Amino acid sequence: MKTAVLSSLATVAAVGAHNVGRQASSSAPASAPAGTSAGTAPASVQTSFSFTLASTNPTAIPLASIVSNAASQATHALSSTFAPGTTPTAVSGAPALPNAALLAPSAYPALDVIVPTDSAEVKQWILDVNNSGVAIPSIAPTVAGGCPANAAAAADQTRCWWTCTGCVADTDITTCPDKMTWGGSFDDGPSLYTPDLLAFLDQNNIKTTFFAVGSRVISFPAILQTEYMEGHQIAVHTWSHPSLTTLTNEQIIGELGWSKKVIKDVLGVTPTHFRPPFGDIDNRVRAIAKAMDLTPVIWTRISPLATFDTDDFDLHSGLTSASHVLQNWDFIASNATSPDFKTGFILLEHDLFQQSVDIATGYIYPDALARQPPFKIEPIISCLNQPLGNAYIETNDNSSNPLPISATTVVTGSATGSTGSSTGGSGNGNSAVSTIGLPGLGPVLALALALLSGTSFLLL
Ligand SMILES: *[C@@H]1O[C@H](CO)[C@@H](O)[C@H](O)[C@H]1NC(C)=O
Ligand SMILES: *[C@@H]1O[C@H](CO)[C@@H](O)[C@H](O)[C@H]1NC(C)=O
Ligand SMILES: *[C@@H]1O[C@H](CO)[C@@H](O)[C@H](O)[C@H]1NC(C)=O
Ligand SMILES: [Zn+2]
Repeated sequence: MKTAVLSSLATVAAVGAHNVGRQASSSAPASAPAGTSAGTAPASVQTSFSFTLASTNPTAIPLASIVSNAASQATHALSSTFAPGTTPTAVSGAPALPNAALLAPSAYPALDVIVPTDSAEVKQWILDVNNSGVAIPSIAPTVAGGCPANAAAAADQTRCWWTCTGCVADTDITTCPDKMTWGGSFDDGPSLYTPDLLAFLDQNNIKTTFFAVGSRVISFPAILQTEYMEGHQIAVHTWSHPSLTTLTNEQIIGELGWSKKVIKDVLGVTPTHFRPPFGDIDNRVRAIAKAMDLTPVIWTRISPLATFDTDDFDLHSGLTSASHVLQNWDFIASNATSPDFKTGFILLEHDLFQQSVDIATGYIYPDALARQPPFKIEPIISCLNQPLGNAYIETNDNSSNPLPISATTVVTGSATGSTGSSTGGSGNGNSAVSTIGLPGLGPVLALALALLSGTSFLLL
């Protein structure tokens, strides 16, 4: 059921197109969300953005206040908390909720730095990966600086580096299969502003997916518990949010391992899905993730220059404006609704900063809920037509949905690193690696993509 607030919103007439001037910035990114105009005009010269919203939230923060130098807003306590020992009702067969108050942050790595690889825990996970049967292709780590600084790697389709070419492996989840379904995702939390988002989602009966950063989980364990207990999907987003392709195998194992562990310690269950920070994934990262029973989830990419990223993350830094984000959103919603677009989609949003939460709860979701035909907003695991239990190792239905390691029967390409893709025995199909929407991608286009993607690589 929608709340009274929402019902009244739905009767509000379209508020009309906004045209909001914006101070041009010479450092504006040529990032690649669907709404950007990077393909046709440099973002640095665009000063106004237009969009149409079917509805807004009457309690929304004014757009003019959703800016990088906004004063910190008051924070709110969680509207629901759950006692240790409570049995989850949203996830069938899940164990009782752990006591988060007993967790000792000193037992975890330092916050927001790449985890050390010499701890007993990481050493064990390295052994586990080695024993998993999944071969890790010998692909060299990339260097800092994204696609422009790694031109050869970016153009190497056998590496299948999503950031630079949009290349996806068959195990990558980038869309929802059914038209008008929307796999929601909020990344980089939990944060001080996540309770505001949770209250809004709860009032509007929306469930989503949270890609949680381990350093935030150990800082805000009760928020993660509320997300989980209220039926949102929890997934891994590393410990310290590095660009995974730049790390050694052992560092990648440590980053994924510690974030799996802290979530298990807080919730009692271990996610089966992860999102690489910045969408930075190649076949080496994919293989390590598979060896750790993690399936990659990215977000929808409709063309070389357009992904379903609202760019809300950049509001906090001032690299984008609220009006630009809403134009991005309007383009995304229109594209997703268009008859040419045959599937559902996965949208990237964030809950780390107040600005991203404000624009989601004040504008994007009120608009989305008022649009016709309606979107079906749900956790990513649900849009894939799987039970919420399949979001966690402990409750996964192994008979119908083998976990990644046990789904592996043959691994190819490890000796030379020539493909690096593994041939799975699951319903996920074979090892084909495709470059979506890029037929005949030539070196010139590849370079152009590399350059265009370079900035967003640093910012997503
Ligand atoms: C889809 O998004 C692009 C920007 O990426 C925009 O130019 C185009 O108008 C959108 N299409 C629709 C149908 O809204
Ligand atoms: C990895 O596993 C192989 C056997 O599969 C073994 O020979 C090798 O010593 C292992 N390496 C490490 C570092 O444990
Ligand atoms: C599925 O397999 C995992 C790993 O072996 C196990 O932990 C889990 O309990 C199994 N799922 C169910 C529902 O038994
Ligand atoms: Zn992130």
